[in-house]
Amino acid sequence: MSEPMTGLTRSHRCGELRSSHIGQEVTLMGWVHRRRDLGGLIFLDLRDRSGTVQVVFNPKDDPALFKKAETLRNEFVVAIVGPVEKRPEGTANAAIATGEIDVKAGQLRILNAAKPTPINIAEDQTVDEGVRLQYRFLDLRRPSMQQKLILRHKVAKAVRDYFDRQDFLEIETPMLVRSTPEGARDYLVPSRVNPGKFYALPQSPQLFKQILMVSGMDRYFQIARCFRDEDLRADRQPEFTQIDVEMSFVETEDVYRMVEGLVAHVFKTVMQYDIKLPLPRLKYSEAMDLYGSDKPDVRFDMRMHEVGDLLKGSTFAVIEKAIADGGVVKAMAVPGMAGASRKDVDELTAQAKTFGAAGLFTVALTGEGVKSSISKYFEESVLSKVAERAGAKAGDLVLLMAGPRMQVVEPFGKLRLELAKRLKLMKKDDFKWVWVVDFPLFRFNTEEQRLEAEHHPFTSALPEDVHLMESEPLKVRAAAYDIVLNGNELGSGSIRIHQRAMQERLFKAIGLSAEEANQKFGFLMEAFEYGAPPHGGIALGLDRLTALMSGVDSIREVVAFPKNQSGVDPMTGAPVEVSTDQLNILSIGVKQPAVR
Ligand code: AMO
Repeated sequence: MSEPMTGLTRSHRCGELRSSHIGQEVTLMGWVHRRRDLGGLIFLDLRDRSGTVQVVFNPKDDPALFKKAETLRNEFVVAIVGPVEKRPEGTANAAIATGEIDVKAGQLRILNAAKPTPINIAEDQTVDEGVRLQYRFLDLRRPSMQQKLILRHKVAKAVRDYFDRQDFLEIETPMLVRSTPEGARDYLVPSRVNPGKFYALPQSPQLFKQILMVSGMDRYFQIARCFRDEDLRADRQPEFTQIDVEMSFVETEDVYRMVEGLVAHVFKTVMQYDIKLPLPRLKYSEAMDLYGSDKPDVRFDMRMHEVGDLLKGSTFAVIEKAIADGGVVKAMAVPGMAGASRKDVDELTAQAKTFGAAGLFTVALTGEGVKSSISKYFEESVLSKVAERAGAKAGDLVLLMAGPRMQVVEPFGKLRLELAKRLKLMKKDDFKWVWVVDFPLFRFNTEEQRLEAEHHPFTSALPEDVHLMESEPLKVRAAAYDIVLNGNELGSGSIRIHQRAMQERLFKAIGLSAEEANQKFGFLMEAFEYGAPPHGGIALGLDRLTALMSGVDSIREVVAFPKNQSGVDPMTGAPVEVSTDQLNILSIGVKQPAVR
C-alpha cells in the first residue's frame, strides 16, 4: 500500500531537530530505520541523510493511527506530521544529536513500502562486497556510506574554493581524445562517423593542461575523470578522479607551496585537522635507501641502515660478495621482537623471499645478550655496533639483508610494511606526509630492453643533469615529485618540457622515432614553437585522498558506483555484449574472446 504525499511539504530534516524545536509542528519524510514496540507504544527511528529522530505512536492518542504504525517495516518510506516534544525525564539519549526530543505522531502516510532488504541498513555489519555492489542503492543508504560521500563532497568543495581563491580556472578537457600516455592501456571508443577510427578515453588531461598553459590560461585545475585499463587493486579503479593542476611560470618550489596550501586547507576545513607545513622531503634515492619504497610510510620509523663498513672483512661469503660487487648490507631494527623463535624467523625469511630477497639474517638484543644467526662469523662487539647503528634497543630484533642494492632495499621495504602491520604501527588517524623528489627521468624496461619515462615523457630533467641525457640516461634526475600520505602515492607531478628541441630529445631517448613522435605529439611540439611558457603541475588522486581521510582501505568505499576487481559493475552488469546492429553501425566485428 502506498499513499501520495500530496499536500505535505517537508519542514525539517530528521537529524536537525533539537530542544529548540520543542512545541513546533513538523513534517518529516524519510525511511523507517527501526521500529520498536515497547510498553504499549511504538517507537520509530525515522532516518534521512541528516540522521535519525524518534517518532512515538501512542494508541491512546489515536488507535487507528497506532494500528497503521503496526504495519510499518524497516525501510518503508513515510511522512510524519506532529509536534516536537521533550523526551520524558530520564529517557534522553545523549549518544544521538536528536536524543533530547521526540516527535509525537499526529499523521502518518506510507509513501512506499519496502521488501526486506538484502543489506541491513540499520546495523553497520560487514556485508559481502559483491552483494554491496549489486545492491549499491541500499549500500549507499547506510549512514556510514552516506558519511563518506558527504566527506568526498566537502573535499571537492574545499579544493574548488582553494583554487578559486588562488586565481585558478577550472576548465574541462575532453573525454574523447587521442591517446594520452600514462603507462596504462587505453579504453577505446569507436567513432561511427569515422569508421575504423577510435578515440581513447583520457588516462589524464596531461596534454590538454599543458596546451592550456601555452594558451595563456596561467593557472588551471580540474576535478577530472581519468580512465586506465589496468589491473585493479584496492587503490586503483578503471575510472577514477584526479585533482589535476597546472601552473605557468613556476619551479618545483612553487608547486610544493601551492599543493601544501591545498592539502592544509582541505584537512582544516573538512576535518579541522592541522597539517604542519612545510611538508618534509626525501630524495627518491634516500627514500629507497631508508625505506625501500618510493612511497615510504613514515608514520613509524624502522629505517634501513647501511652496515657494510662494520661487517666487511669476515669469512662470511654472502656479505663479502655483496660488498665486493658494489651492493649493500642493510640493517633494520624491529621493536620488541628479540624473543622471536627460530620458527618465527624462518617464517619471516620465507616471507622476505616471496618479496624477492635472497635471505635474511638476525641479531637479537635479548636479556641474555646478543643472539645472532651469524654469530659464528662476527664478534659480539661487531654485532652490537650493527644493532646500535640500526637504532635497536634491548628487546629489539635487527634484520639484515645483503646483495645488489635494489634486490635488497625493495624486498626489505615490503617486509618493513608487513612487520609494521603485524606490530600495529600504522594508525589510520595519524597523517604523515612526505614529498619524494628528484625521481630518475628514465627507467630501463627489461622486457622490451629500452628506456622509458619513469613518470611520463613530458617531464623535464633537472637542469644540472641534462648533459647526461644521451651518455648516462639512467643517471638523469627529473624535476618530478610525488606527494605521499601514509605510504600511499597521493599525487605525482613535474616541471614540464616546454621547448620542441628538448621534447624531441626526450622522445628520442625513449626510442620514439621522429616520425612517430610527430604523428602522436606533433600538436604539442608545434604548440611549443609558438611561445610556450615554462610550466609545471601535479595531479592528486581524489579517491585516494578521500579514502585516507575516511580511514578506509579501498577507494571503492568512497566511489559511489565503483567497479569490482574484474572491472564489472555488478549493479548494472556493465560491461555487456552489444547487438550486431550496433556493431555494424560502428563497422566493428567481435572476435571470439580468448578464453580467460
Ligand atoms: P599519475 O599517473 O601519477 O600522474 O596519477 C596521479 C594520481 O592519480 C591517482 N591515480 C589513481 N587513482 C585511482 N585509480 C587509478 N587507477 C589511478 N591511477 C592514478 C594517484 C596518482 O598519484 N598526468 C600526471 C600528473 C602530472 O604529471 O601532473 C598523472 O596522471 O593518486
